This record gives sequence, structure tokens and C-alpha cells, in this order.
Amino acid sequence: MAQAKEKVRTSQASEAHIAVHWKEEEYFQPSKKFIEQANLKDAKVAEKFGEKNFPKCFEEYANMLTWYQPWQTVLDTSDPPFWKWFVGGKLNVCYNCVDRHLAKYKNKAAIIAVPELETEEPLVITYQELYNRVNETAALLRDFAGLKTGDRVTIHMPMIAELPITMLACARLGVIHSVVFGGFSGEACGLRAADSGSRVLIYSDSYYRTGKLVDHKAAAEIAVATAKRDGQEIEKVLVWRRHPGKYGSAAPMVKGRDYFMDDVLKDFRGKKVEPVSMDAEAALFLMYTSGTTGKPKGCQHRTGGYLAYVTGTSKYYQDIHPEDVYWCMADIGWITGHSYIVYGPLALAATSVVYEGVPNYPDAGRPWRIAERLGVNIFHTSPTAIRMLRKTGPEEPKKYHYQFKHMTTVGEPIEPEVWRWYYNIVGKREAVIVDTWWQTENGGFLCSTKPALDPMKPGSAGPGVLGIYPIIYDENAQEMSAGSKKAGNICIRNPWPGIFQTIWGDRDRFVRQYYQKYCKNPQSKDWRDWPYFAGDGALLAEDGYFRILGRVDDVINVAGHRLGTKELESACLTIDEVAEAAVVPVVDEIKGRMPEIYIALKPGVTISRDEVSKKVIHTIETMIGKIARPKTVQVVPDMPKTRSGKLMRRVLAAISNNMNVGDISTLANPDIVEQIRVQVQGTAPVELKEGPEDVKQFGSVE
Ligand code: WTA
Repeated sequence: MAQAKEKVRTSQASEAHIAVHWKEEEYFQPSKKFIEQANLKDAKVAEKFGEKNFPKCFEEYANMLTWYQPWQTVLDTSDPPFWKWFVGGKLNVCYNCVDRHLAKYKNKAAIIAVPELETEEPLVITYQELYNRVNETAALLRDFAGLKTGDRVTIHMPMIAELPITMLACARLGVIHSVVFGGFSGEACGLRAADSGSRVLIYSDSYYRTGKLVDHKAAAEIAVATAKRDGQEIEKVLVWRRHPGKYGSAAPMVKGRDYFMDDVLKDFRGKKVEPVSMDAEAALFLMYTSGTTGKPKGCQHRTGGYLAYVTGTSKYYQDIHPEDVYWCMADIGWITGHSYIVYGPLALAATSVVYEGVPNYPDAGRPWRIAERLGVNIFHTSPTAIRMLRKTGPEEPKKYHYQFKHMTTVGEPIEPEVWRWYYNIVGKREAVIVDTWWQTENGGFLCSTKPALDPMKPGSAGPGVLGIYPIIYDENAQEMSAGSKKAGNICIRNPWPGIFQTIWGDRDRFVRQYYQKYCKNPQSKDWRDWPYFAGDGALLAEDGYFRILGRVDDVINVAGHRLGTKELESACLTIDEVAEAAVVPVVDEIKGRMPEIYIALKPGVTISRDEVSKKVIHTIETMIGKIARPKTVQVVPDMPKTRSGKLMRRVLAAISNNMNVGDISTLANPDIVEQIRVQVQGTAPVELKEGPEDVKQFGSVE
């Protein structure tokens, strides 16, 4: 009985169509100057991407690349939902990003690497030099590290020029790279290396972060041990030195396993490696991301479709011309960096800036000094960075003489007032803004305004991008109409070339997580029966613009980075004294959301709250990384649970965010709620807030 009642309650709470009160924002128009020079200014191109031309419309993007052999089939739907793109085509990604530009642009900057310390000069790498360095690195990876086409290699590196060089060298050989964000711990790196079956790890010894040299190689030892525990032997650890010839780590180099890249590269000076002609459908890279279970999953991206998609969207939505100096402040260790620092911009022969450090080091004027010095005219960052720069230096941009024509916001919903600061102060009322919504799984943008053609609306991502047909469904697969003011689950009705191929080693989970929910007929080979479920709540305004509200699952978006709450909870459970752990999102002024951790101790354990808290933070930092550091750790006497023993994270999320806890009558221990509330909020009455949609929904679907 209790169980049946529980079921009714959760299914009610999980109904996605919650009315969202939100005032319509006014439109902003792109400037005439921007429109005149834009790559996408012909509304006819947009028409070409209409449904009646699908999937052929995507040949427009594929034709931006150089192919060794053309494709025979644009889209093969014979094994749904494992779509295949440009089947029969052959190409090499590195060739497209480097070699083919030499004829015209060999003397032009491809990458400008900006060290965090302002006393170090930026490093300018021309296309010719990039070609040399990528070839030498590829020769080393093949002939010294023994890497072959199809092998996987795990790269755990910070934002230095050697990171894109290593990725391009892998792509040249058809070696599948798996880049792990530099801020993740050695343990997180080791788990990913084991999952992907990597025999080789590529590291850097150190890097600068807020002015200090961080010892990064130390993490390699932990990564190797973790991978081994998971059954994966690491044969070689290749180490790029931040200052060639000078080792910046205290970790010993293991003989016969660890090698300095700058030493070994001496044997490969001037070596050239033919780019390997790859099938369009061959895997290009893996990118691990957090999902709804404890283990991160490796999103496998394809060669042809992915490169076509990031090149096309970089050209039309980032408005990249070869003359542009483009700076995306994301980290290459995330999908944004792969698609929109490395592959998209370089395929278009742009100059791409790679900045090592944090945006506000040594002060909030730093990004604007970099922009001024390098002549950056396209700028790309996240709401978290914008909020931080706005808070710490609201007038700083005015002091510098840079001029952006185009700016991007990505990764989280942006508050309209933050958007307006970005527009008025950073963009000096001249730069057009695109708010691009997409995910690791998607390869490239899904929703955005067309920069020269559509007006901007603060807080809204805009319509589906060219060739993407989004739809909002309620829990019963009913379409929610434009202007209904009700939120639902945003889905994409059709396949597109940038969509990932599968989860590495887990086809079932790929189908289950992204397609099962709204599949109309599992036997069907028609793509129309297989909408892609994104896992985000959204609403559609009358003008066809989507407003993204955030995750509908138990993933928390911290500063634009996805953290699986289950991953954090499992980490806490490795601590001896901990009986139970629950992780919930708490609203943070700068980072959007942060994790808050609730801990219940095993009976009879005598340990102070302070000590538990320290242990939890330490464990999270070593198992995942500093980005997952909780805002607070609450040690509570017991967790709120249903009579069937289910932990009610929804109630904890409400308490953490000063929201109404709602109906708690089905709890086995309703009294605990008040105890926890007083512990977290204190005894003085607090003003209850409505709370954002993703927090309201959190924990309602279990
Ligand atoms: C969120 C990052 C609102 C969303 C490219 C998505 C956004 C998750 C936006 C993916 C945006 C991304 N507005 N929310 N413009 N862009 N998101 O995989 O919840 O790191 O599901 O990819 O970030 O994060 P991921």
C-alpha cells in the first residue's frame, strides 16, 4: 500500500509540465556592420535545411571538408538508433585542420597559446609550425609509443599548446583520443583510462593556476594505479614539460615507463607522417561525461559527421572567417573545447587562442587585456565566467580597446541581467551574442539564434539550429505547444551528423538513456520514430525560441560542468564512517549550482562533524577533482526516507535552497525533516523561495 501511494506521488511530481512564470524579454538586433560581413546572411540557406531537404541538407557541411573519397549515403538508418553519416566517405581530420591550409595560410597563426603568467610571452604557432609539430608528435606516438589506428590513448593535460598538438597527432594516425579535463583527479583519469582500454597516458608535468605552478604529474601515478586496479595496465606515460628541459613535478619518473616528450622528440625532428585515410564512421575520440549512474560514460564521436558538423556550425554560428582571431575560454578537456577551440576553428583556418589560466588572474581585467593584445574579435565563454567577471570587475572591459564582433554563451542558462552586462559592457553594444544550447553527446550546437538573421532574446537559446528539429514532450509523449508557458522535456526529432555514435562499450545504455523514453516503435527503421531525449527541461515561446531550464535528472550543472550526483555519493560511501550520502544542488550566485552533501554516519561512530566534513571534501577531491568540491557538508542524524526505504533527495534539495519541502506525509520519519531544516537554516524563520525549475524537479524522478 505504502509503495503504491509512493508511486502515485512521484509520478505526479515528475510531471514535467509545470507552469513557468517568466516575463518575456525584449529583442536585440544584430548590427548592420555584423550582418554585412556574416557567413550566414542569406535566409535561403536556412530554408535549405528544412525538413523536406533532410538529410541531404547536411551535405552543405560535409562539402566544407576535403575528402579522400566521397560518401555514397548521407544517412544510413538501417540499425536504429545507431545512425551512420556520410557512409563510404574517407577523410582525415588532422589533414582537414592543418595540411590543407598550408597552401594559403602557412604563415598565419593557427594557435596562440597564452600562459597564465603575464611575464611569459604568448606562443604563436603558425599553420606551418603546427604541421611540423603535429607530424613529429604523430611519428613519436606511432614509432615510439606503438600506437596504431583504432587504439585508445588517454590524455590528461592542462591548457597548453601541446594538448591540441597531441589531439591532432592522434587524429592523423586514427588513434582515438580520450582527453580528461586537467582539473580532474588522477583517480578519475585512471578510471577513464581503464574504461577506454588505454595502454598509454599522456600527461604534462605542471601548469599555472592562479599564479602557482601545480604539480600535475603526481596525478599520473594515481591514474596508473587506479587503471591497474580496474584491470588496465599502463605501459607508457608520456610527459610534456611545461618548460622543456626543466621538470616541474616532484613525482619521480619511472624508468622504462615514463618519458619526457621533449627528450624523445629529438629523435623525430623533421619526421613526416602520412595522414591515415579514415572511414567517415571511424571513431575520432571519446569524451567522458557524467550521467545518471555512478560511472561516467564515454561518448564516442565519429570522424566525418562530427568534423562536418563542428565545421559547419563554427562557420555559420560562430561566424568564423580565416581572418578572425577567435578565443573560446572553455577548457579543451570539455566538449566545448574539442569542438569550438580545436576542431571547428582549425578546420576553418582560423586563429584559435588557448589560454592556460583562470579568467581573473591576476585580476578581472585579464581577459580584456588578452583580447586587446591579440586582437580577438570573436569571444566565447560560459555564464559562470561572465558572472564572475561582472562581479569582480564590472567596469573593467571599458578600460581596454578590444572590439568583439561576436560573442557566445554556453553551458548553463544565463540570467537576462547577466546577459545584458555581457552585451552592453563586454560586447560594447556592438557584438552579436549567440546563446548556444547543446551537450557532450551532441558534438555541436542544437539551439541558437542565427547571428545575422535572428534577433537575440536574453535568457533564450533561440530556435533549433540548421537541420535540427527540436520538440518538447510532456511525460506522456504529448507535444507541448509554442507559447503554452509550460515546461517539458526537450527532444530532437531527427538525427544529425554531430550526434555521438554510442557509449563506449555500452550499446544498451545508449539506447536506454537517450531513445527509449520517447521511441514510438522499437522495430521501426524510420528516424521519425526515434526522438533523441536530451535530459533537459525547456519551454517554447510563441516566437519559436527555446528557453532551457536545466537538467531533469540527477546531474548537477556546476559552473557549466556536469557532475553526476550518484558519482559523488559513491565517493562518500568509500569513507568508513559514512552510512549514507545524498547529494543535492544548491543555488550559487557565481557557479549557478553547487553540490551540497548530506551525510548520515554509521551507528556508534564517534567522530566530530568537522572531521567528517574534512574527510568528505578530501575524498571528493581525490576521487573526482576540485570542481566537485561541495559548498557544504551536512552531517545529519538520519535521512528523510519513504516507508519503502527510498531516500528523498527532493526534500533535502528543498531545505538546502530555502524552498517549500512539499508533501512529506509519505515519509517513514517525517520528524527528521524539521530537525534537518533547523540544522541547515537555523531557528530564525527564513523567507521561502520558489526555486529554479531544475532544483524543483531534482529527485522527483528516481
Ligand atoms: C546545459 C556543454 C542552458 C544543459 C556544451 C545541458 C545549457 C548540459 C546551455 C550539457 C545553454 C548547455 N543554456 N543550459 N546555452 N548549454 N547547457 O555535456 O543542461 O558539459 O544538458 O555540454 O549543459 O553539458 P555538457
